[in-house]
Amino acid sequence: MPFRPRYTGLIERYRSRLPVTDDTKIVSIGEGNTPLIQLNNIPKLLKYKADIYVKYEGLNPTGSFKDRGMTMAVTKAVEDGSSAIICASTGNTSAAAAAYAARAGIKAFVLIPDGKIAMGKLAQALMHGAIVIQIKGNFDDGMALVKQVSKEAPVTIVNSINPFRLQGQKTASFEIIEELGCAPDYHCIPVGNAGNISAHWMGYDEYYSDGIVKSRPVMVGYQASGAAPFLRGHMVDDPETIATAIRIGHPQSWDMAWKLQKESGGWFDECSDDEILAAQKLLTEKEGIFCEPASAISVAGLMRDINSGKIPEGSKIVCTLTGHGLKDPDTAIKQSSTPLITVDAALDAVKLAILDKI
Ligand code: F0G
Repeated sequence: MPFRPRYTGLIERYRSRLPVTDDTKIVSIGEGNTPLIQLNNIPKLLKYKADIYVKYEGLNPTGSFKDRGMTMAVTKAVEDGSSAIICASTGNTSAAAAAYAARAGIKAFVLIPDGKIAMGKLAQALMHGAIVIQIKGNFDDGMALVKQVSKEAPVTIVNSINPFRLQGQKTASFEIIEELGCAPDYHCIPVGNAGNISAHWMGYDEYYSDGIVKSRPVMVGYQASGAAPFLRGHMVDDPETIATAIRIGHPQSWDMAWKLQKESGGWFDECSDDEILAAQKLLTEKEGIFCEPASAISVAGLMRDINSGKIPEGSKIVCTLTGHGLKDPDTAIKQSSTPLITVDAALDAVKLAILDKI
């Protein structure tokens, strides 16, 4: 049997492109190297002649793309002598911070909006031993508090304003290019703080500048209608959406995102909660891919942009599915259309239930 080296995470794989040295002690849980899955049934169903791939970031160790940034942020925090990290979060960053802090043997403090994060994410932060501080406010309030408190307490911020986070996250673009053999024509991605779209652009631009690929994709960022500062052209004070991961009104990477939108010739657009949930369901029912609502917005937006002709037929498209569907079981169960059938534990009853549905 041919052997191949054990995969040990994205810092090891992209060492030469990341700010680490030979002496850096890497904190990794094997993040990155996520599958790029070609959609088969949705394009057929919708009669799209386009190559659509999803980068399934839900298959990272804590179930979201945040692990890519967190391996870098925590590695550098430890290298710099920090023994505590802090973040504000809509859930996924807190899960990743908690896990990587556990792995590194340091403390994690996480500020989350009271009652507005998905159950799976809360369970993760608690299980990994983070100190969870629920605030009676939203993510933006939490972010402002984290910035203030980090000036007064010895804690390292691991939100995406920490530059190492985006360095780690840019590796998703490297992986996409390596698998496709080129950059996609379009990259569709959910936007909250706009850190991830910025990181992807950094990755694409790096391979382009180094002559590895001849083009960069058009970047298309989608926001939930109730939390869409990039569409309104200004910050939004009371963001609201079922996609709690992107319930953000004051994006931290505002300038960077506008810059890349112009450089890439891309655009921002918004989707309603209904469109988001419909896309989530389509992916689960037609492709076997379960992502959380915020992630599905990339496919919801793409479908609209293909229908309107904004994204032309024949394009090669990548959508980032940022987080796993299991993160938010409550929203999933509420919108499931498959009825639960309860019968007696008897052959006849089970047979009847099957024959009734066949
Ligand atoms: N998708 C998911 C599943 C997310 O958790 C986030 C952000 C985004 C998309 C948006 O990415 O902020 O880089 O534009 N979640 C952060 C958190 C805010 O705290 O977990 P972005």
